[in-house]
Amino acid sequence: MPHTIVIFGASGDLTSRKLVPALYELHRKGRLPEGVRIVGFSRTPFTHERWRANLAESTAEHLGQPLDESSWESFAQSLFYQPGDIEQAGDFVTLGETLDKIEAGSETTRIYYLSTAPRFYESAIARLGAAGLAHPSCERCRVVIEKPFGTDQATARRLNEKVHEVFREPQVYRIDHYLGKETVSNVLVLRFANTIFEPVWNRNYVEHVQITAAEEMTIGHRAGYYDSAGALRDMFQNHLLQLLTLTAMETPARFEADAVRDEKVKVLRAIRPMAAKDVAALTLRGQYRGYRDEPGVAPDSQAATFGVVRLSIDNWRWQGVPFYLRSGKAMSCRTTQVVIQFRQPPHMMFDAGPQNARDANRLVLQIQPAEGIQLHFQTKVPDAGMKLRLTELDFNFRRAFAGEMPEAYQRLLLDVLQGDASLFARADEVELAWGIVDPIQQGWESGLPELAQYDPGGWGPSTSSEWMRNRRHQWFDTCPVLH
Ligand code: BG6
Repeated sequence: MPHTIVIFGASGDLTSRKLVPALYELHRKGRLPEGVRIVGFSRTPFTHERWRANLAESTAEHLGQPLDESSWESFAQSLFYQPGDIEQAGDFVTLGETLDKIEAGSETTRIYYLSTAPRFYESAIARLGAAGLAHPSCERCRVVIEKPFGTDQATARRLNEKVHEVFREPQVYRIDHYLGKETVSNVLVLRFANTIFEPVWNRNYVEHVQITAAEEMTIGHRAGYYDSAGALRDMFQNHLLQLLTLTAMETPARFEADAVRDEKVKVLRAIRPMAAKDVAALTLRGQYRGYRDEPGVAPDSQAATFGVVRLSIDNWRWQGVPFYLRSGKAMSCRTTQVVIQFRQPPHMMFDAGPQNARDANRLVLQIQPAEGIQLHFQTKVPDAGMKLRLTELDFNFRRAFAGEMPEAYQRLLLDVLQGDASLFARADEVELAWGIVDPIQQGWESGLPELAQYDPGGWGPSTSSEWMRNRRHQWFDTCPVLH
């Protein structure tokens, strides 16, 4: 069945940087289903031809290579543009007429993609409903909603209510682009397609878990959004909690949207809510030096560009195992990784030293940019008595598989077209995630813990290592080696 993807915010950055390049790549690889049309909607008065020409340029630029001419020509035939304003009900009526014309009476599934500023989400959804372009009983209507989905639990709940006035939950695809990363899906494969990890994947063998998303880049020109969002809303509520749920969840019975999401929701429900009195002890926050000089940042801004949160999961599998979540801008390097730190051997008959014993019992899931998995363990140095040395088994996606790692949006867009919501956040999941972050955000806004300054190019505030040492743990502060 043909599909029409209507992109609201068609002249925006996300459309040219991610969505259209991903759709074009799918087309070039022959993965885009037959009969997909893409209709851009935004206020800029482009013609179809002008929009196509702009996208040809931006797509080549973002893919970092010239376009394959014949692939682009055939792809561009499916690009259409309809100028319109989300605040004008009449423009939705015109949009409907344009869609009818383009679809020429064929039974088509419509995908409405909200790639606008979040303040327009409610209006866009309400107007789609009012114009009769979508309604809860529509079998061929889907909506894709970009992050951020609300700014706290109350706003996320309200947005869900508004969405559900026009779309049923199975029609809703809330994007967290981390879920489209191959290495993130691979956490599920590693855990649930092998038997060897499951027996040790619990409190009996795991001492603690570290989930880090470090970025070298600063906030650049994103102050308008970032200065009020800060690290917690920007990275923790979505990406880091998604990584945590995939690492901690039980095995779903089937790889199906609700079976997978039910298990993730159970983990979120089991996370111990942080009491106001604990925020100072269980979290850290920092701001890189120079942040307040970034364009658009308030001179006395308290926004955290670095954060650490220690969470506990109150269930049989994870009781007593701390999950440390950490994210920061202006860090030493770009690395997203999940470190499963196993317990030290209960009795060591070799002379390895406590540091080595700890380093030797570690599984590192490299989410990016050196996509892969490393298992660190001890080996005997040959011809050297019983001397031990730390070594690792190293799996690297790029070495093991030919071809490029696809951009997350390729997978996600294909899943929306195929009606598979497994890798999208469900309404209850988003609200629960905000429920975990909100008390921490409130604590941070009340000034706790102290906002530590840090120099760009390191691993955050110097207090961070000491904080971890006080808990008898150590951060895995290692930049991935790119081959
Ligand atoms: C976005 C955040 O959701 O994720 C950005 O708003 C962040 O601040 C980005 O830089 C990180 O995504 P990735 O895929 O580069 O790790």
